Amino acid sequence: MFDLDLIKKTYGNFGPRIELAKEVLKKPLTLAEKILYAHLYEPEKVENFKRGVNYVDFAPDRVAMQDATAQMALLQFMNAGKPQTAVPSTVHCDHLIQASVGGTPDLKFALENNKEVFNFLESVSNKYGIGFWKPGAGIIHQVVLENYAFPGGMMIGTDSHTVNAGGLGMIAIGVGGADAVDVMAGMAWELKFPKLIGVKLTGKLSGWTAPKDIILKVAGLLTVKGGTGCIVEYFGEGAQSLSATGKGTICNMGAEIGATTSTFGYDESMERYLRATGRAEVAELANGIKEHLTADAEVYAEPEKYFDQLIEINLDELEPHLNGPFTPDRATPISKMAEEAKANGWPTKVEVGLIGSCTNSSYEDISRAASLAVQAVDKKLKTKAQFTITPGSEQVRYTIERDGFIDIFDKIGASVFANACGPCIGQWARPGADKGEKNTIVHSFNRNFSKRADGNPNTFAFVGSPELVTALAIAGDLTFNPLKDTLTNEAGQQVKLDPPTGHELPSKGFAVEDAGYQAPAADGSSVNVVVAPDSNRLQLLSAFQAWDGKNITGAKLLIKAEGKCTTDHISMAGPWLRFRGHLDNISNNMLIGAVNAFGGATNKVKNQLNGEFDEVPKVARAYKAAGIPSIVVGDHNYGEGSSREHAAMEPRHLGVKAVLVKSFARIHETNLKKQGMLGLTFADEADYDKIQEDDVFNFLDLTDFAPGKPLTIEVVHADGSKDTIKVNHTYNEQQIEWFKAGSALNLIAQQNKN
Ligand code: F3S
Repeated sequence: MFDLDLIKKTYGNFGPRIELAKEVLKKPLTLAEKILYAHLYEPEKVENFKRGVNYVDFAPDRVAMQDATAQMALLQFMNAGKPQTAVPSTVHCDHLIQASVGGTPDLKFALENNKEVFNFLESVSNKYGIGFWKPGAGIIHQVVLENYAFPGGMMIGTDSHTVNAGGLGMIAIGVGGADAVDVMAGMAWELKFPKLIGVKLTGKLSGWTAPKDIILKVAGLLTVKGGTGCIVEYFGEGAQSLSATGKGTICNMGAEIGATTSTFGYDESMERYLRATGRAEVAELANGIKEHLTADAEVYAEPEKYFDQLIEINLDELEPHLNGPFTPDRATPISKMAEEAKANGWPTKVEVGLIGSCTNSSYEDISRAASLAVQAVDKKLKTKAQFTITPGSEQVRYTIERDGFIDIFDKIGASVFANACGPCIGQWARPGADKGEKNTIVHSFNRNFSKRADGNPNTFAFVGSPELVTALAIAGDLTFNPLKDTLTNEAGQQVKLDPPTGHELPSKGFAVEDAGYQAPAADGSSVNVVVAPDSNRLQLLSAFQAWDGKNITGAKLLIKAEGKCTTDHISMAGPWLRFRGHLDNISNNMLIGAVNAFGGATNKVKNQLNGEFDEVPKVARAYKAAGIPSIVVGDHNYGEGSSREHAAMEPRHLGVKAVLVKSFARIHETNLKKQGMLGLTFADEADYDKIQEDDVFNFLDLTDFAPGKPLTIEVVHADGSKDTIKVNHTYNEQQIEWFKAGSALNLIAQQNKN
């Protein structure tokens, strides 16, 4: 499945490219810098990029997509006119599977309920050379770690926990679908050169502490924003003592501190994992360039000189942690939990303990949790809370079943859900959750925002290691400290749980009957991608119209948004997720969360054609039907939040030609450019106040659209008076070509034809 030639090619680049980077930078390099410089889109254009300042073009090795985000990404890619993806790519069906009664029936239900989406993803994958992981095969990040991640590689994935692959020494970054399309189409992928945080791990984990406790501690130190724009690089003897999957857990939750990604240097645990997962050849290749797959010795000798920020954690002193409720950076060492829970009024009865997910379902995790389940049975303890397991992949599930762990969990009354996201992403049909009762759950997942697991805002979710979660589920008590507390067993005796024990890797090796992988057709040209014309979940995209070469005139104001307008305000999530693959249907949520500066209401704007007030998408559709262009005006940092491309595609689809704001969130601005829209900023912010409800906009010099040259717009007010305003833009030559062609994809498609 993995592409050995790709790895050989990537590794072949390392030596010369790192040498060149060292010549230019004149300093030793961290691991993150080595991987980044080895993946420049234009490798000869090496500069001493300013960390946290310069935008740099990269050429990632791979792309991974999950089922919810892959839909729009692939619908767009289909319009790029490419016969195959430019880099190896995979699709993983994991988010659309609900956890309800148990693995097999839940999977069956999901297959029925999402049939057309799964069929679509399967056929597109088959056509364009994309590896397809069927529903039930596992969770994207676990499957990637088992099959594709490789030390020193660079990958992007359409899911924020793509960063999990740092456990095998990758630079793996979560992105929006539009970025995935760029890379699959062979274009450059742009990233602000990240700042670097070094985390030095000394000592060694023992007893009840687990890799999860390291990241829970880091999250407590750095908070949910502390890693923003940074790559976190772990090193030190403590790092080398961790399993590769343990490293994966730590990198996975780097998303919870906002980090661009996290990574570890190549070591023996990675080599063991590669060999155990059938990739001895990759291990051999990595051994051949070992010196490039870790930072230079000078960096580790004086890390404070080379990282923007340095943290040191002594694993000998680390305590098991529980982070929460409602935020993953509220870190409480287990010895302080009783006190904290009392002071804050947190419900202490644990209702459910959930282990697994992409974060924590390695063989090591499961075997250590199982060692506690064995003790519960042997010591005649009745497990007080419900207990569930979501295996990360079919390979893990099959292997743990073979090795008897599922039987062990069965003895403490556990439910095994499908190998999918399930309860981690609100896909948990938890009985009674709709009653909204205050209650506590503990899980080994990564996020614990309000409502995330079961939709109940009164569920207090705490994140811990699988071992601690299992112990707390057995005790049924959030304040139970297994390091010192005893439990009363069924015979009325006081018993203590011994620290968990487990195996890094299965002694009999991993096994699986059907991993759930489907290779694409060698030549997909004759594969038909079927989308039913009457589907309400999927819609083939038509190419957006090219610019007609004339000034845009007569454009009506659709909405003047006031205050915060994030991608959630522009394209809401929640129930709208269902329409992620249907541009026309999801466009009915366009800007419905934005606050109208005139009147302060949401989703209520004036239709200039009849003077009546209506919903934003309806008014946009009315203008579009009348052949009238429209404009959106916004405030500061317009489009902040996620990188979802729907927030740019929807206005484009509904006839909005330009978005004129005080300032943009950068990713959204780029997304607008990619979709062939005009993303403009007021040269004089005070001009925002000149915009009135019935305004009509005439561009005066769009025909001279050029980099660095402001544009001029005449704003005609209802009383006939006019203001002429200057607007700025950040379009370069290439991006102006995107605008002219109608979208970046149109341009690629044109180039492919020529
Ligand atoms: Fe899925 Fe939760 Fe991981 S949604 S990808 S299991 S973070």
